[in-house]
Amino acid sequence: PTLRKHSIATIGADGIGPEVIDAGVQVLRKLASLDGTFKLDFEEFDWSSETYKKTGQYIPDGGLEQLQKHDAILFGAVGAPDVPDHISLWNLRLAICQPFQQYANVRPTKIFRGTESPLRKANPGDLDWVIVRENTEGEYAGQGGRSHRGQPWEIATEVSIFTRHSVERLIRFAFETARKRPRKFLTVVTKSNAQRNGMVMWDEIAAEVSKDFDDVKWDKMLVDAMTCRMVLDPKSLDTIVATNLHADILSDLAAALAGSIGIAPTSNFDPTRKNPSMFEPIHGSAFDIAGKGVANPVATFWTASEMLIWLGEDEAAKKLMESVEAVTERGVRTRDLGGSAGTKEVTEAVCAELEVIY
Ligand code: NAI
Ligand code: MG
Repeated sequence: PTLRKHSIATIGADGIGPEVIDAGVQVLRKLASLDGTFKLDFEEFDWSSETYKKTGQYIPDGGLEQLQKHDAILFGAVGAPDVPDHISLWNLRLAICQPFQQYANVRPTKIFRGTESPLRKANPGDLDWVIVRENTEGEYAGQGGRSHRGQPWEIATEVSIFTRHSVERLIRFAFETARKRPRKFLTVVTKSNAQRNGMVMWDEIAAEVSKDFDDVKWDKMLVDAMTCRMVLDPKSLDTIVATNLHADILSDLAAALAGSIGIAPTSNFDPTRKNPSMFEPIHGSAFDIAGKGVANPVATFWTASEMLIWLGEDEAAKKLMESVEAVTERGVRTRDLGGSAGTKEVTEAVCAELEVIY
């Protein structure tokens, strides 16, 4: 039988990014070789804040065309202490997400077996969510400006853009995501009491789209009340959809409630599949622990598993997650999860567990 082939672009970028991406590639290579029904080809791109400081560019001319040739992108994290964060974010991560129209940013969170939530009463199974975040416009559309810089009468505007086109496709994607999960339940988050234009349109579009999903139950929340519900009643939630900014904040809260930012994955999907989708751990470049070999690679492993599902390798994706959870359950955990293992130990333990599972 012919092997299914997937070509993956990797961009480790800054801080712990390259460390966790190396761990992810190691585990993926192991998985593909054990599975034997598919092949993964990796091409590494060394785009980072170092490149930017040397050349003035994060992505060289023609870079996006090079990425375009791949089936998926595995991304580490960008951000360096000596480059302003808005420069690094806009010139690397958003410079890929926006032109590739990766409009759905999907962030699953759960409490792993063998790990603890900071919520006293929450155990594995009590918190199992997928947050769907609008990823191309909204509060991060890049509209606005500054005038009279440095003067006492300086003005800055940050204009949110909500288009019916983008909101509708995103909410439709969220209903489809909810439909694929056992509970078939979606919570639509807005702030339509205070933000009376864009957010009211979101609510209206959600009500319209819901008519095409009779089998999905849904409810609505204001974003501030949503933070309380996440903390006080995590079991009452399943799939959640929100704007670029709101879901950015809610998903960091979700990761913390599940135990650590070091386990949470993100997918940036172009659901039309015209462009490659991009997969990354939620966390940043974590310069405080970079180079020490202590970064938790679990977020990247879960990210890799989400990528495999997108590529149609559901079986391998499931085995990867089973291995990761077996390892956390056995107590091979990094410091952020209360353990003492390093990146390398966790990676090797997952590879060894894969050998057992296959
Ligand atoms: P961060 O996620 O890098 O770090 C926050 C805290 O979590 C730190 O104490 C860090 O040590 C810890 N942490 C993060 N990932 C971990 C892991 N895998 N294992 C163990 N501990 C982990 O967020 P921060 O400090 O706000 O940002 C640092 C830089 O990363 C900034 O330049 C920021 O702009 C950038 N950033 C980039 C992102 C991306 O590329 N998608 C996302 C978030 C931040
Ligand atoms: Mg964030």
